[in-house]
Amino acid sequence: MAESMNRVEMSRSSAGIELIRHTVELAGLPAEQSDITIVQISDFHRGCGDPDELIANVVGRVNELAPDYIVITGDFVEGRRRDVLPVVKMVSGLCAKRGTFAVLGNHDHRGDPELLRAALEAADICVLHNANMEVGPGLWFAGVDDLREGRPDLDKALEGVPKDAALILLSHIPNVLLHLPASRDMLVLSGHTHGGQVKIPFPTPYLVCLFHLKTRFVHGWYRKGNVRLYVNPGIGVTGPSPLNRRYRCPSEITEFRLISPASQDN
Ligand SMILES: [Fe+2]
Repeated sequence: MAESMNRVEMSRSSAGIELIRHTVELAGLPAEQSDITIVQISDFHRGCGDPDELIANVVGRVNELAPDYIVITGDFVEGRRRDVLPVVKMVSGLCAKRGTFAVLGNHDHRGDPELLRAALEAADICVLHNANMEVGPGLWFAGVDDLREGRPDLDKALEGVPKDAALILLSHIPNVLLHLPASRDMLVLSGHTHGGQVKIPFPTPYLVCLFHLKTRFVHGWYRKGNVRLYVNPGIGVTGPSPLNRRYRCPSEITEFRLISPASQDN
């Protein structure tokens, strides 16, 4: 799979939310599926700070993009049960042409993950809980439960996906890359790190993520053989005051335009 870094576009809204657009050639994607778009958002953390206006802004901005698919890679809430239904009400306003999919994050497991799953499903957002689905002809989405505080079963998440099918795996925690076979072409979408949340010279986001979150995958693209990983830095914030803020690390909406290797016009 080739990921075209030279075709990245960036723009920032008045609310300070960055829109990053990547064009990705996805192995196995049929030519007739070429040029579809997936928008990834992550880590709302309702219950930390006051992210409602930000979330509403993100929902509106994502809908303006009119994506084929929307994926949400976990941490809807900071950890309180009472935030579950309000955040689901907000994200239920998301509108994708072909469907919205989600996995839960570690903070979601501190609230009420069963209530969150049920509320998301009721809002027509498909939770891929160690499961997969053919979301379009030849295109599969898989999702694994949170690696740290959930009950992840990666084998089950990938079970039955045809060997050569185009595959996108959702995992809140990017360390899933360490457990995947390098030979299998796939795109992995993760969140969790908030890009370090605060970008200062020391400790760097890399060191914060390495020692606090036990991951070296902080933000952007990583690769292991044929597996490509993108880490989205999220929307909200986490942590105790005064650390519950972003500094030089804006909220991000990521749009992936998927291109088929078989298409003639890429
Ligand atoms: Fe998070």
